[in-house]
Amino acid sequence: MEQLDPDKLKLFSFLLFSKLEGAVTSGMVHLGDQLGLYKALAAAQQPLTTAQLAHATRLNERWVREWSYNQAAAKMISTINKPTSATTSGLAIDDDTFYLSPEQTAVLASDTHPAFGMGMFHRLPQTMESLKQMPESFRTGIGHNYDSHGPEGAIGIERSFEPWTNANLISAVLPALDGVTKVLDAGASIADIGCGAGGAVLLMAKAFPKSSFIGYEISQYALDRAAQKLKDSKLDNAHFNDARTNPLPADHSVDFVTTFDCIHDMTHPAEMMQAIHAALKPNGMWLLVDIKAHDTFALNMQKNPMAPLMYGISVLSCMSSAMSAPGGAGLGTLGLSATNAASMAKAAGFSHFRKLDIDHSVNAFYEIRL
Ligand SMILES: C[S@@+](CC[C@H](N)C(=O)[O-])C[C@H]1O[C@@H](n2cnc3c(N)ncnc32)[C@H](O)[C@@H]1O
Repeated sequence: MEQLDPDKLKLFSFLLFSKLEGAVTSGMVHLGDQLGLYKALAAAQQPLTTAQLAHATRLNERWVREWSYNQAAAKMISTINKPTSATTSGLAIDDDTFYLSPEQTAVLASDTHPAFGMGMFHRLPQTMESLKQMPESFRTGIGHNYDSHGPEGAIGIERSFEPWTNANLISAVLPALDGVTKVLDAGASIADIGCGAGGAVLLMAKAFPKSSFIGYEISQYALDRAAQKLKDSKLDNAHFNDARTNPLPADHSVDFVTTFDCIHDMTHPAEMMQAIHAALKPNGMWLLVDIKAHDTFALNMQKNPMAPLMYGISVLSCMSSAMSAPGGAGLGTLGLSATNAASMAKAAGFSHFRKLDIDHSVNAFYEIRL
């Protein structure tokens, strides 16, 4: 039997606790976003002491200081160290200052930047809360849909995807599809399935006023959010349907179907592909956007540095959703590789499948036709 190696033991313990460091720092990132600490650092345009940051956010300095130390030590925010000899009550007070680099500003504090990264941290408490339900799911096999993450879960998804979509859908993604912008300009019927809070629907409805858009969802929290945003937008060519009571028509009447990051979350993705086939006109098109994945676990592990994150989120969210009804397919976050998507589309009756040349950190884009 292999002997225990004390050096390897230390290394493995370090590896384990580096994961806990990531989890705890993620909690601090959630607080930085929720409490406006990142936005205050970005707005200051100069390094701030923790007293200045606490003043700007109306928070307690001692708590802001400890948070800042975590964030700077984890390299989430930047710092200039200027230790002094002053002490109060035995605690060293220094005049370290903290600031955000342009890259940190984009990812942490700029809601509209395509690289904005706070969405998944927004819903971190709800995602982690689902750990309580997991032992039962591991025993029964039945997971939990997106509404199990509450209204903040839906807002987190919205904040995750909308910044990139707002910056790229109309300008880069739709023009990459054969002839779609022309059809939408002229006036067409469009369905966005798994539409979440409706950002893509409203964006397209505004850009193509002659076309009619319907978003389909099964999350009540996402539908509520979409309804509010529709009201605010004052658009009259967009609607949202509860897909459970008002599903896609099966009469080949739709010109263009979109699915953004949702097929892998569905309990019955093969049946959904058949429904999309039945909804589309003979010359219609389906834009499938889903998580970039390799064909096997071994390849994902080897080639995707984010594989542990993806498989973990799958258990807590994506696969859980895809197993949330008996007989759920359970594809999960990395379950829809290009090969898998192409063969499932073929089985649903589609004959054309083309991967688009669009650069995205986690998503792949496919043009699919009857
Ligand atoms: C990761 S979210 C993506 C939401 C949205 N497309 C976006 O990009 O922000 C996946 C969504 O798919 C929805 N969903 C899952 N199964 C569905 C189904 N059978 N029909 C419609 N929506 C579904 C979930 O409720 C969830 O809101």
